[in-house]
Amino acid sequence: MHCFLLVSGGVGYNSRVKYITTPIYYVNAEPHIGHAVTTLAADMLARFWRLNGQSTYFLAGTDEHGAKIAETARKAGKTPQALSDEVSSQFQVAWQALNIQYDGFIRTTDPNHEKFVQQFLQDLYAKGHIYKGEYKGLYCLGCEEFKAATQLVGGTCPVHPNHNLKKVAEETYLFKLTAYRQQLTALIERNEFRISPPERKNEVLRFIGQGLKDVAMSRKNVAWGIPLPWDKEHTVYVWVDALLNYLSAAGGSVFEKRPSWPPTLQLIGKDILRFHAVIWPALLLAAGKEQPREIFAHGYFTVDGQKMSKSLGNVITPRQLIDRYGLDGARYLLIKHFSANDGDITFERLDNVYTSELANNWGNLVSRVGKIVQNADLTYHHGNLELKMDEMQQKYKEKFNALDPSGALDVLQGRVSELNGYIEQEKPWTQADPHRLGEVVTCLVENVLALAVLFSPALPTTSARVLADFGSSLDQIDCATLGGVSHATGKIVKPIAPLFPRLLKKSPVSGGQ
Ligand code: MSP
Repeated sequence: MHCFLLVSGGVGYNSRVKYITTPIYYVNAEPHIGHAVTTLAADMLARFWRLNGQSTYFLAGTDEHGAKIAETARKAGKTPQALSDEVSSQFQVAWQALNIQYDGFIRTTDPNHEKFVQQFLQDLYAKGHIYKGEYKGLYCLGCEEFKAATQLVGGTCPVHPNHNLKKVAEETYLFKLTAYRQQLTALIERNEFRISPPERKNEVLRFIGQGLKDVAMSRKNVAWGIPLPWDKEHTVYVWVDALLNYLSAAGGSVFEKRPSWPPTLQLIGKDILRFHAVIWPALLLAAGKEQPREIFAHGYFTVDGQKMSKSLGNVITPRQLIDRYGLDGARYLLIKHFSANDGDITFERLDNVYTSELANNWGNLVSRVGKIVQNADLTYHHGNLELKMDEMQQKYKEKFNALDPSGALDVLQGRVSELNGYIEQEKPWTQADPHRLGEVVTCLVENVLALAVLFSPALPTTSARVLADFGSSLDQIDCATLGGVSHATGKIVKPIAPLFPRLLKKSPVSGGQ
């Protein structure tokens, strides 16, 4: 038996209980593929863990308070709550359309979350971790962040160069972040709170090394937020409210089925690293809570070389990709863009990957093997497969452990190419020896079934179809060992329809009309 899928490796990865999170997205704009990339990577990891029998909780959600949301609502002539309800449900609909299987969806306007945040901060205040002071300086509404001069480029926020920074001078409550400098450094250096990839860890250590300042944790003139329990003239600073979602989902009885603390893995984009790697762990230290095991910050992508933005008119929505590439096609192409590094998206490149990897490689293999099985009159010969699965499975598993789901897909594609080559070489349709034919077809079918199982975290719908077409199902195969692959082979119950139909139309952006 190949015992390959049991995950081991990084801190916390042996634990049977997994808790994975994504950022909760602002409700000022509709979901786009930037949000979808992080959420799909989490979905693929969560499905991989579940497939291996590990108890997994995947949390998603929306970030609904603060001045930016209030401002967007005002411009749209809506109340902030109405805007939040509308856009939060757009996110839920988009995730459903992408077949994202989250276990909980948290909204920061949920009264249970609000109560939890108030209680949490009241405790910190009572313990002396929060004090009254003043904030004087610049504020970027786009980032919802107080900006130090060192964070500006040419006097503006590099992420929102078109927005004016707002000068603020206001009374605020400050959280004693400076008290945690040494503890934070030690936790991060020792990987007790792991920041990945390593360059992000170094970036955070450098930042902490330059010295920290206490951070404002309340706003006096922002009405759309959670009131501070001890001073109702203030609302909780939106980032503190938002970061606490991960904890309130676990302890704030927002849900019936809750994750267990601490998170195994928190996926974020590199833009929000400091909040998650400095303020967040310090809040947890102050409250005496265990730290998340790992934070992974992925790179950012551009579209046709430019930042994706409403004003440039180049925002791509998940729906556009589903319409063009199908559900699993869209999932696959987005997961391929989850990377520690920055990248660029063009429709031309998406078309190429779809065609070469899905239509011409994996889809083609499935239909060729289906035809061979249908046309041959054979007896299966199990046992000594020429293309064994252990090594490929091992590499696939390693990519998951390295949080490289795109790399895991590449490993599978490598095997798919080998199998297509094997068909060319063996030409089963010319094979006169029935024993040899049985061996070749067994090798092909067992590999196709194994690949369908291994592709299933990324391609759940098409994998289920392949397994069904070959007379099997995920229930019949022990996913941790791939046991059952050899018993299920070969019963083609219906002709195999193309999994990934060819693209007909020219691509919408780069390919022209
Ligand atoms: N609400 C905060 C997060 C609070 S978490 C406690 C926020 N929201 S956001 O709507 O702006 O989403 C930011 C996240 O969206 C990024 O960290 C990243 O995960 C994802 N992305 C948004 N645009 C992206 C790209 N262009 N490329 C890759 N990821 C992108 O910040």
